[in-house]
Amino acid sequence: MSTQTTGESISLASLTSLGVGGHAGRFVCVTDRTSLQVEVRQARAQNSRIYLLGGGSNLVVADEGVNGTVVQVAIKGQTILEETAEGIRIRVNAGEVWDDFVAHAVNNQWAGVECMSGIPGWVGAAPIQNIGAYGQEVASVIEQVEVLDLNTGRFENYSNSECQFSYRSSAFKKNKATPKAVVSVTFKLKKKNEGLVQYRDLQADFASSGQAPELQHVRDAVLRIRGNKSMLLEDKDPNGQSAGSFFTNPILDEEGRTQLLQKTEGAPPIYPYGDRYKTSAAWLIEQAGFEKGFALGAAALSSKHTLAITNQGNASSAEIVHLAKVIQAKVWDRWQILLIPEPQFWGFDPHPLMEQAP
Ligand code: EPU
Repeated sequence: MSTQTTGESISLASLTSLGVGGHAGRFVCVTDRTSLQVEVRQARAQNSRIYLLGGGSNLVVADEGVNGTVVQVAIKGQTILEETAEGIRIRVNAGEVWDDFVAHAVNNQWAGVECMSGIPGWVGAAPIQNIGAYGQEVASVIEQVEVLDLNTGRFENYSNSECQFSYRSSAFKKNKATPKAVVSVTFKLKKKNEGLVQYRDLQADFASSGQAPELQHVRDAVLRIRGNKSMLLEDKDPNGQSAGSFFTNPILDEEGRTQLLQKTEGAPPIYPYGDRYKTSAAWLIEQAGFEKGFALGAAALSSKHTLAITNQGNASSAEIVHLAKVIQAKVWDRWQILLIPEPQFWGFDPHPLMEQAP
């Protein structure tokens, strides 16, 4: 059994890619299932609220920090459950770095996650917000998610349909009353050395290169495109301190689409999404008057992509939230379209941004 406790005074800023936020009341990093269960039981016995942490790449922590117990689920390892001529079933523990898993899959010529190359964070967070990029969503390759229910202290398995995946969401994200710690994710991947080239940016990349889209080629292209947009969250990149996309792309019904067209000169990006439409949050932000690099204090939009809010060095959490609020309000005033925040927020009560239309 292994738990590493780092005392009372750990700064959560140092554990997040955005680099803002105060301290945790108590911080523990667990590296196996039993320790997770023990720590959760102990926190509950002490009436301490539990905050679950993975790689910290999708998280905004308040300057005041949090009073409860932060549990980082750093359980590592993976097991091949089944291998046939067609494909593979592999169980990957929550603490594995997501992109290491993608690199491993691509290396072994297992298809299904190559377009999600370069997404920051750990495997355990992937199902929570149904990560996706360049035409792939993790929901399409997940067979099962194993969780620890924080209320009952018991392990449970969720099938793909029980996860209720939708765009950047899942049952785990929605059901806040029954919080779950993801322990492992079982993926079903195909043995096929052919990458998915569906998204416009990728198609453009392959049209000019003339390469056959092998998995490694697609991974390389995605990493290049993400790098050009500063979406790799690298330390050396001045846009690297961010939480990735700060807002989700709005989903519009027919009326919303008509209104957007009426209130906009030119052609807004609108893509079919089931029986509705998806528009681009980055585009709305730009059209509302916020250029790439727009800054308020030490919080700034990425100079490469208006959807990422960055910490330009010594930003406070309040500055990050202020910039996000200003953007959300302006987009709402202009189109009555609500930009829904994408990262998790800790230590704010109530949520500092609008989560629903006023
Ligand atoms: N655009 C702008 N200005 C910008 C950037 C983009 O106007 O600065 C417009 C363009 O019209 C562009 C469109 O936005 O065609 C879409 O941009 P992009 O392809 O970069 O994708 P996105 O919709 O902004 C989503 C995901 C990303 C994912 C990319 C690529 C969400 C919230 N974000 O971004 O995921 O990498 O697609 O597939 O769905 C994340 O979730 O944190 C994330 C980075």
